[in-house]
Amino acid sequence: MKRGGPVIAVDGPAAAGKGTLAKRLAQALSLPYLDTGLLYRAVGRLALDAGQDPAAPAEAFAQKLSPEDLARRDLRAPEVAQAASKVAAQPAVRQALVETQRRFAGERGAVLDGRDIGTVIFPDADVKLFITASPATRALRRFLQLGGDQSAPNAQAQVAEMEEALKVRDAADSGRKTAPLQVAADAQVIETDTLSAEDVLAQALAFARRRLGQ
Ligand code: DC
Repeated sequence: MKRGGPVIAVDGPAAAGKGTLAKRLAQALSLPYLDTGLLYRAVGRLALDAGQDPAAPAEAFAQKLSPEDLARRDLRAPEVAQAASKVAAQPAVRQALVETQRRFAGERGAVLDGRDIGTVIFPDADVKLFITASPATRALRRFLQLGGDQSAPNAQAQVAEMEEALKVRDAADSGRKTAPLQVAADAQVIETDTLSAEDVLAQALAFARRRLGQ
């Protein structure tokens, strides 16, 4: 496909820091940014709103997704994340969202974060990054992101609960038949457990600029 600019794929498991990195990369390289998880979250949200089990066929919701659906503020809730993971396992839902993602990057190039950007959506992406961290690190980050207080008496139990939920979602996202989460052969893997967001950005930018010949 002819594109007007570079495509940068940022894949990895939930709460690994993909979103933070992808947004900053997009800013540094003056490219549009798309959080593709939002597409699946919005489909999951619509299924829940309709009183439907998210494991039931949800293709119709994916086909009629509107910008308003993507702008909703309640897409970050844990039950929406679980529903997103379930609708994302449906091949027809994924198929319905392929063109949306490709079109987004067609004009000027883009940074996209997700699970299958470098493997399925843009196997020919100019730059592929795979961002990961241990479940314990990711659970703690998600806890703090959601405003959690580490000194609260039940903080440890809450983080442990989040870690369990992340592991369940990881297993579903990695174990599904269609477009499972996997590292593309030509991806640069960045383990972020001991890195600050600034360190991750610096490593990713250095890799991206080398690949882009900048
Ligand atoms: O990145 P996230 O947590 O917002 O994603 C929500 C769910 O959507 C995730 O559990 C798996 C699914 N997803 C996917 O299958 N493919 C993508 N490109 C992005 C998200």
